Amino acid sequence: MGKQGKNVTETRREDWGTPDDLFDKLNDVFDFKLDLCASKHNKKCDLFIGEDQDIMSFGTLDNICGQSDYIWINPPYKSNGGTKDFVKKALELSGSRGLVCLIPVATGNKWWAEIVYPGFDSIIFPRRFGFKGGKNKSMFDCAICIKWSNKDLTVDPIEKQSQLIVKNIGQLVDIIN
Ligand SMILES: C[S@@+](CC[C@H](N)C(=O)[O-])C[C@H]1O[C@@H](n2cnc3c(N)ncnc32)[C@H](O)[C@@H]1O
Repeated sequence: MGKQGKNVTETRREDWGTPDDLFDKLNDVFDFKLDLCASKHNKKCDLFIGEDQDIMSFGTLDNICGQSDYIWINPPYKSNGGTKDFVKKALELSGSRGLVCLIPVATGNKWWAEIVYPGFDSIIFPRRFGFKGGKNKSMFDCAICIKWSNKDLTVDPIEKQSQLIVKNIGQLVDIIN
């Protein structure tokens, strides 16, 4: 198989693993309780939901984690556009919980306008990186999208949110650089 063919095969993989150092930095900030899309080989949290349980069939997470916990999702990469269905479902299931998601950048696409921009509070764009298990840097850019947990927004939503952003940006800045 030529280089082009190998790259296409790599791009079509759906189980791109988040690099540990990137996840660890995010986890220091958010202390994730649940990985919404994982297998026992690539889970980022002890609590995870796998393909056989199928996150798309869930109606609630109430028996799985607390109302103010933070949830992590790096959804399966679907070249047919199916990634958006996972993000939409994760936002619905998250409710009052915090949600942080790692997704391919598609700023000009309709689903970003309809789902990502309204659904998340903050979006950061790290430098392009290599996924876990991949041989090279990814062939696409990614965004880290953050929806704050309601517990972090209850006191005085605007003031609290700006405090959180200032506090966390300090910790997140080396993810961007
Ligand atoms: C991009 S990988 C993420 C791996 C790891 N959790 C991480 O963050 O690096 C996506 C994972 O979603 C799992 N998956 C696929 N379909 C799923 C579904 N319907 N419900 C839950 N997990 C699913 C795949 O098995 C794969 O391990």
